[in-house]
Amino acid sequence: MSELNKIALKIISNGKGILAADESNGTMTKRLEAVNVTSTPENRLLFRETLFSSVCMKKYIGGVILYDETINQRTNIGQSIPDLISSSGALPGIKVDTGAKTLANSSDEKITEGLDGLRERLKRYYELGARFTKWRGVFVITKKYPSIIAIHTNAHALARYSSLVQECGMVPIVEPEVLMDGDHSANLCLNKTSEVIKKCFDELILHKVDLSGIILKPNMILSGTHCKNKISNEEVSRKTLECLQNVVPSEVPGIAFLSGGQSEIEATENLNLINKNNSTNFIMTYSYGRALQQSALKQWSKNTKDKEKTQNIFNHRAKMCTLAAKGKWSIELENK
Ligand code: 13P
Repeated sequence: MSELNKIALKIISNGKGILAADESNGTMTKRLEAVNVTSTPENRLLFRETLFSSVCMKKYIGGVILYDETINQRTNIGQSIPDLISSSGALPGIKVDTGAKTLANSSDEKITEGLDGLRERLKRYYELGARFTKWRGVFVITKKYPSIIAIHTNAHALARYSSLVQECGMVPIVEPEVLMDGDHSANLCLNKTSEVIKKCFDELILHKVDLSGIILKPNMILSGTHCKNKISNEEVSRKTLECLQNVVPSEVPGIAFLSGGQSEIEATENLNLINKNNSTNFIMTYSYGRALQQSALKQWSKNTKDKEKTQNIFNHRAKMCTLAAKGKWSIELENK
C-alpha cells in the first residue's frame, strides 16, 4: 500500500468524513453576514475553532479542509489550528486553488486558477501540517454548457494540480463540481457529470497521477434546482451510483461527496441511500461544507460565546452524516 493510499484511507474509512471548512474570506463573509455576524479574522476563527474542538471530531471526522487564513491562525492558548485538528485524530487539509475565474472564449463558464507557484505553496502547507489538499473545478449545465473548452481546461488543471500535490507527499482531493443551478433534468446531470469526470480521469492518467492516492469529490446526480420533474432520493442514489460505477477507475479508494446546496437532511438521506445501494468497492462518504455547518452556524450566531450549544448541533450533524456513510441513518435517529 502506498503512503498516499494510507493517508486517503485514514481520512475516509469507517464512516468518517471530511469537514469542508475552506470557505474563502469572501464566501465566509457572505455566510456570516447572512446570520448577522461581522466577518473579521477573529470571528471566522472563533466559529471554526468551536467546530474543530467538538467531541465529534474524534469519532466522525477524518479530515478538515482549511483556507489559507485559518491554517495560519492559532487558538487563544497559542495552539496552531493544524495541531488542534491533529489532536483529535483528524488530518488537516488545505484548499490550494485560487478560485474560479472567467474562461476566455466561453465567458459564461469558469476556469479554476492557482497553478503558478503551486509547488512552493504546497511545501509551505506541508510544513504547517497539511496532509491533503483540495482543488475545485466548477461546471454549469445549460443547453450549450459545459463546453468542451471548460471540460478540457478544468480537467487539465486538476491533473496538473494532483501531480504536484502527490510529488509533495499529500493526497489531492479532485473536485469537479457540476452545479445544481438550472432547470435541467437529472438525466442531463447524469450525462454531463459522467462526461466531466471521465475527462478528469483521462487527464489524471495522462499526468501519471497515482489513482490509489486521491479522493474524488463529485456532486450527486440531482435534478436542477428549478427542474419541474424532480426525481426521488432513491433515484438520486441509483443514478449517482450508475455514474460513478461507469467512470471512476477501480484503483480510486474513495469518493467524498460535496453537498452543493442540498439541505442538511437531503444531503444526509441521499448519502445514506447511496451507501445502502452501493455494490461497488468504493468507500462513499461526505465532504460537506454547508450540510455540516448550516445549523451550527445559525446557533452560534445567536450567542458566539456559547460553545456548548453550537457543538451539540455540530456533533449531531457529524454523527448523522457518519451513520449515512455506513447506510445506517434513519429519520427516527435524526429526530431523536
Ligand atoms: P458544500 O458541501 O457546501 O457544497 O461545500 C463543499 C465544498 O467544499 C465545495 O467546494
